[in-house]
Amino acid sequence: MSSTLKAVRGTRDLLPPETALWNRVEATARFVFARYGFGEIRTPILESTELFARGVGEETDIVSKEMYTWEDRARAASEKAQSLTLRPENTAGVVRAYIEHKLGDTGHLQKLYYIGPQFRRERPQKGRYRQFFQIGAEVIGPVTSGSESPLRDAEVLEMLATLLDELGIERASESNGYKGWKLTLNSVGSATDRPRYVAALREALSPIKHLMCEDNQRRAETNPLRVLDSKDEADQELIDRLPKIADYLDDDSKSHFAQVLSALDACGIPYSVNPRLVRGLDYYTRTTFEFTVETGLGTQNALLGGGRYDGLSEMIGGPKAPGIGFAIGEDRLILTLQAQATEAAEKKLDAYIAPMGVEQNAAALSLARDLRREGLSIEVGDGSFRLKKSFEIADRVARSILILGEDEVTSGEITVKNFATGEQRKIARDDLPELLR
Ligand code: HAM
Repeated sequence: MSSTLKAVRGTRDLLPPETALWNRVEATARFVFARYGFGEIRTPILESTELFARGVGEETDIVSKEMYTWEDRARAASEKAQSLTLRPENTAGVVRAYIEHKLGDTGHLQKLYYIGPQFRRERPQKGRYRQFFQIGAEVIGPVTSGSESPLRDAEVLEMLATLLDELGIERASESNGYKGWKLTLNSVGSATDRPRYVAALREALSPIKHLMCEDNQRRAETNPLRVLDSKDEADQELIDRLPKIADYLDDDSKSHFAQVLSALDACGIPYSVNPRLVRGLDYYTRTTFEFTVETGLGTQNALLGGGRYDGLSEMIGGPKAPGIGFAIGEDRLILTLQAQATEAAEKKLDAYIAPMGVEQNAAALSLARDLRREGLSIEVGDGSFRLKKSFEIADRVARSILILGEDEVTSGEITVKNFATGEQRKIARDDLPELLR
């Protein structure tokens, strides 16, 4: 018998009914993007390897270790052999298309979005695949179109908050135990700030780098910024003591970042600033950001990332065309939604009221009304159940059962059992809301 063939490691089939959720997410994204004036762009999945080497950066993990690259042979005398790569991300491809189609000549700001597969040879685990999907958007244009304005940064971030709201992904707050999304951002400075900062980093790293892990020793030489996003436990203390980019920003960059933050404040979008957020791609300038979530993703908790790339067009041979954008990991977005749905389905009511006979039905309903008005979630049994049966039903749907027999109605003391602790006791009606909460 011949061996069975399986999907390649790190890739997967998406099947119904799960694909219905993917379709819903994509439809919501298209709907939101259209309201902000974005149009769809579809670039090829194959690009020349050089695009990523120059755009994303030769020293990044993506380009140095993770790309699917091969030599595409010439098939005719008129063709040349060429190194091709399956796109590991889509920003470089979008900017290439912007240059190739002279979109800057219109003088207008281009607002483009994409949805599609990307490829990185990473170690597969939950939320991390070798073929994964991104939903992304880019705002790019000549300086005269306003593409450098901090308003664009804030608009992109505000659009993301709206999209996550419309998808039903909660913001982190006290009431959900900080499980929803969190926005972290930073400014990595302009093309002139960065070399000064990198020089300072190199200098600070030089006497201590031999104490660091092998990867960081190499990064300290080749690309010191990458040391900042190192996850190596033992190196964290040393990294925390390195110079901070905020101290190397010029006045323009500082004021740009301050304007982004104040626009976020005006839109009521919560955020925190993390001076170590430099992100793993070399094209970033000024604003960089990430949205993380606690639900469902384990260690792969970066739901999306993005930032400004004012010099990318020039890096790949185009005109000056500042831009900003983001890419959402769609696989991770879906995992987050699924985890939220499971949590919601498992969420139990605060209490189940079990009247012990038809005579107690009216009292049960009145008690339910009072407790619901106190903000508690309550279900009422119909009075025809025996005690044992009531306990079984209540245990499935609620965290506590309230037993309402003749005695309870006359005395005003209700019997309550909490299923988690197993504790059963009588309690005055007025004290119930506090106990159940
Ligand atoms: P990135 O941070 O490399 O940025 O990727 C963006 C998002 O894609 C990540 O936050 C994550 O959710 C998802 N992602 C990345 N790798 C994987 C993987 N192996 N499996 C599953 N999901 C993954 C970029 O790609 C930039 N092009 C974003 C951007 C757009 N910056 C400006 N414009």
